[in-house]
Amino acid sequence: MKKIAVFASGSGSNAENIANYFAQKPDVTVSCILSNNPKAFVIERAKKLNIPSFCFNRDDFYNSTRVLDYLKENEIDFVVLAGFLWLIPENLVKQYPGKIVNIHPALLPNYGGKGMYGMKVHESVIENKEKKSGISIHIVNEKYDEGSIVFQAECSIEEGDTPESLANKVHELEYKHFPEVIEKLLKQ
Ligand code: GAR
Repeated sequence: MKKIAVFASGSGSNAENIANYFAQKPDVTVSCILSNNPKAFVIERAKKLNIPSFCFNRDDFYNSTRVLDYLKENEIDFVVLAGFLWLIPENLVKQYPGKIVNIHPALLPNYGGKGMYGMKVHESVIENKEKKSGISIHIVNEKYDEGSIVFQAECSIEEGDTPESLANKVHELEYKHFPEVIEKLLKQ
């Protein structure tokens, strides 16, 4: 049995989608959901899904081994960042080399980096009158959005699209592809 930990900072719709996907699979499970924000809606989702959650603050994350200890205690094999906004510290990257994956709501290397998350990404893409956007799934290293890209999918942007409508299109791509890409990476 492979055990996944999902990190999320906000709504957590991807976290829920991933948990539901693997609930149907015998050999992979979402063991826990971690968040830097105890008020994030993802914590409610975790309760509803009956998945343990663990919250931590900045000091825990960057100046202690609390998060790493939690992952080790729970024998986590693979870490998924699904709308998680903090940079992953070096100690975690080193403990899980090639085993932390992130989803970014745009076509990297464009529209990535510090401060580029969620609606901010979609607002910039629309403002720049891009004709397409999409999702990028990449392995996590010590820098924001710079690890090797393992998967991308595109959606077109039509006249009249707004940051909100683009966010919906991108979320659809995320729900469709992210669990399958995680499943493939787990088999490698
Ligand atoms: C997702 O679109 C994800 O790609 C994005 O945040 C959203 C979270 O939605 N992640 C980033 O912007 C990371 N830089 P969710 O909480 O409903 O899954």
